[in-house]
Amino acid sequence: MAKQPREQWATRTGFLLAAIGSAIGLGNIWRFPAVAYENGGGAFLFPYLIALLTAGIPLLIMEYAIGRRYRTSPPAALRQMARPAEVIGWWQVAISFVIATYYAVIIAWAVRYIGFSADQAWGDDPEGFLFGSFLKASEEPGFVSGYVSGVLWPLIAVWVAVLGILAFGIRRGIEKANKIFIPLLVVFFVALVIRALTLDGAAQGLDAFFRPDWSELTNGSVWVAAYGQIFFSLSIGFGIMITYASYLRRRADLTGSALVAGFANSSFEILAGIGVFATLGFMAQAAGVPVGDVATAGLGLAFVAFPTIISEMWLGGAFGVLFFVSLVIAGLSSLISIVQVVVSAVQDRTGMHRIPAVFGVGGAVAVASILLFPTNEGVFLLDASDHFINQYGIAMAALVGVIAVAWFMRKLPELQRDADATSAVRLGHWWRICLGIITPVVLGWMMIDSLRSEFDENYEGYSTDFLLGAGWSVAIAALVVGVLLSLIPWKAAEGGLSDLDMESPDEAEAHRKRHGKEDR
Ligand code: ALA
Repeated sequence: MAKQPREQWATRTGFLLAAIGSAIGLGNIWRFPAVAYENGGGAFLFPYLIALLTAGIPLLIMEYAIGRRYRTSPPAALRQMARPAEVIGWWQVAISFVIATYYAVIIAWAVRYIGFSADQAWGDDPEGFLFGSFLKASEEPGFVSGYVSGVLWPLIAVWVAVLGILAFGIRRGIEKANKIFIPLLVVFFVALVIRALTLDGAAQGLDAFFRPDWSELTNGSVWVAAYGQIFFSLSIGFGIMITYASYLRRRADLTGSALVAGFANSSFEILAGIGVFATLGFMAQAAGVPVGDVATAGLGLAFVAFPTIISEMWLGGAFGVLFFVSLVIAGLSSLISIVQVVVSAVQDRTGMHRIPAVFGVGGAVAVASILLFPTNEGVFLLDASDHFINQYGIAMAALVGVIAVAWFMRKLPELQRDADATSAVRLGHWWRICLGIITPVVLGWMMIDSLRSEFDENYEGYSTDFLLGAGWSVAIAALVVGVLLSLIPWKAAEGGLSDLDMESPDEAEAHRKRHGKEDR
């Protein structure tokens, strides 16, 4: 097959918008406000900021540096760093595959709720409506006994949109879509927050959100929550940022881009916290209860609490439409990046062209998603796989990855030289200390802490059989698939460089030296 030159982002802004679009997702809107509230309110911002600076941004820079240096997706990039490390790359690809299958489903629900908001179809029982009329969920996890067409068709629409955008490629697909999505999202979300702040009870909500409970800072699990939030929110450990950075120009600024993306994501997250809690304050005041009684996370927040508020508010329908449209946009820009990890990994290792890869490989993710989730068991399956793939997929792969890069392959000095050579902000020793010591220690601790609580008590009180079948097995399967895929003698087996007509990392280093940009 003829060599294809690697695609590139048209502009730095295009790359930044795509990276920010990937980071800002469902995790920012519904996860952050509740995590912050439950972990010390205003005081949580302290561990959160420490997590951002000591793990989030350093890892983002590391993933950008790997992607740009090897100009290929995670399996081939890690293979070039050390042959056995290819497993970590495929593991991340398998994790992205799993996440994409259910992430799309939540977007599909939000698509339906745009319509439901217009006429407040949930009546006076949003919870009963969500689980009963809409999801037709069974009482408890069991065998699939029915397909839910109300979820199926918006899910198909989501997949058509995602694969359609990916089919246009990096510049004309992902970059263009994010150039539209991100400004729209910011405008819609700012409008939502302004409306939320003018509601009665908003001050009460903000007070609950920001009131610092400093005693929480001595609680280890608060720190674990802060690091966990930063990982999911910044899209680190999925292989996404290696993939996106592999389409960067050789001389693109890395550290500056990571700082912009990291702070943009966190600013949006805090804005979401303000909007959500101002709205919850309104709900609490109307019901005459403390904000703590209405603060809830995840599905409960978006699909139960918000519908309740929409019904009570003046012009609630418009507020609801804006909220769910924002959720759809934020979700789509993240989903695109997650699916691109899978598509580009196969493309880079087989030399397959973009269109067959998008529809063959991306199509396989879509089919798995469509077959498994629009059923009466879908919501339980989603909940369990989300929990286990986050805890024992993303976080575990990040832990293994950072230890491998920092301690086994000892690649940090090289990556640092690469990043410094083209970045306005130069990395100091702190970068290597964060990645070599702080991140592995905190992630290791996180892992022990969450495993302990897993064995203390079954997640959400589900049966052990169900958790083994729909949670543990999903997380373990991602690792096993990663190992198996790394054993395949791929056609482009010597890595992404085989389909690159660009200079290799070493040639690039020589080029930089020739141009007097030697490292300190
Ligand atoms: N970073 C994405 C989110 O926050 C995955 O949802």
